[in-house]
Amino acid sequence: MVTRRELLVGAAAFSGSAAASFAFGGQKVAAREIIATPIAHDTKNLFLDLAERPAALPCFNGHTLPLWTFQEGSLYPIVRVKLGERLDTVFKNDLPRAGEYASIHWHGLRIPNDQDGVPFMTQQPVEPGSQGSYSFVPPDTGSFFFHTHCNTSEHFGRGLIGAIIIEGDEVEPPDAEYVLMMKDWRVSPDGKFLPFTTDEGAAKAGTPGTIRSVNGESKAVFKVPSSANVRIRFYNVDATRISEVGFEDAESAIIAIDGNGLEPLLLPSWRLGPAMRVDFLLRTAPPGKTIRFVDYFAKEPVVLAEFVSEGPPKRTDAFVATPLKVMPFPKVDVAKAQHIPFIFSATATGAAIAEFDKNASGIHIGSLCLAKRTFWAINKQAWPGMTHKDLGPPLAVLKSGRSYIFDLQNTTPNSHPIHIHGHTLEILSSSMPHVPPHRADTVLLRPNERIQAGVVGGAPGKWMFHCHIIDHQEAGMMGYIEVV
Ligand code: C2O
Ligand code: CU
Repeated sequence: MVTRRELLVGAAAFSGSAAASFAFGGQKVAAREIIATPIAHDTKNLFLDLAERPAALPCFNGHTLPLWTFQEGSLYPIVRVKLGERLDTVFKNDLPRAGEYASIHWHGLRIPNDQDGVPFMTQQPVEPGSQGSYSFVPPDTGSFFFHTHCNTSEHFGRGLIGAIIIEGDEVEPPDAEYVLMMKDWRVSPDGKFLPFTTDEGAAKAGTPGTIRSVNGESKAVFKVPSSANVRIRFYNVDATRISEVGFEDAESAIIAIDGNGLEPLLLPSWRLGPAMRVDFLLRTAPPGKTIRFVDYFAKEPVVLAEFVSEGPPKRTDAFVATPLKVMPFPKVDVAKAQHIPFIFSATATGAAIAEFDKNASGIHIGSLCLAKRTFWAINKQAWPGMTHKDLGPPLAVLKSGRSYIFDLQNTTPNSHPIHIHGHTLEILSSSMPHVPPHRADTVLLRPNERIQAGVVGGAPGKWMFHCHIIDHQEAGMMGYIEVV
């Protein structure tokens, strides 16, 4: 059995050689590419009903809190779609507040722009009492999720999140699969939601929660088959928390990042900011034994979940992770790519921004989407300075099918998980050689880090580009990229 210690040694060796192997080494990702091909042509119907549903989650210590969820009876619905299948979604907005409009963004899915669910930008939002719909064929396999795209700190804070899993990437099916959604809650000692966002938080690392949870439990316990290969889809769906997760004293491999299969990585842990996902293959413990799943990024490591082995052992062979099939992504032409710098900074003043023009557009913008404060900027543009009526200029204009290299520069002492809608980034190199090349829709920029991310211009349209620490996004670190 490989222990965490040995893995750490392995990881150290890895980072030592990383400088050489990490420069534009995209080939490693593609080395054993087996292409996932569509397996279904059916249509799946999904109904979501956004509403307040008070619940006493196990992590709430006996208190009942007014959650907002997508479906009756499930904290985070898990929608499963087969590759090639069309997903037809009807959603009703039953949120309990006048003017609390909604739209649904399908995080990480490379779908047409008009299905992307950004209010005013790609669609008119849906008012309480009304319905909306989406229809698309998800083009890629993997672990994705969906959420609203306005007043997001409150919506995330109340639990309005769902997982969408596109199946069809497994060469060898695992013995079992588990979905873990990690999210903190901001709850007062007497069991009330605390303000979902604060200026102090928004100006720093984000407004932190007070209760940790996986799937609504302070420590989630999974009964798993013994000595089996199980797939763990781990999601960081918190609004602000950076985590670094791994299994204690166990054999495991990272098999996908943000849904994208890659040559399995034998790393002891993986760092994830909000909205980032990682898939592990884990060899479970022998009968009666337990493996702990830990967040090492906290001051004291926190046990997020336990995998308790039950029943006779499933496997006796050595643990080998079979790579997942991956999608035929357009390859970034590194030699011809145009470089575009993106500088993520704090704003000079942090001062309030100009009043919005509420009347001219005929659309009430109110305080819903845009906090009237800016602490953060991308290329010196802070999003709340622009109304939705006048989007202002895009941060960049890409040609569909052309290659680009985004030179992402973090000039702040904070981490920022940077997310692009409708595209997948190919992480090529970093000033801090700690991550191997991989594909991702959300990439964590560490303090003062600089990352080169390749991207091929996707479907035409306006695609949001923002930090996924919701406090940062709502306080300026957001913009859009136009593909023509
Ligand atoms: Cu989950 Cu605009 O993103
Ligand atoms: Cu940020």
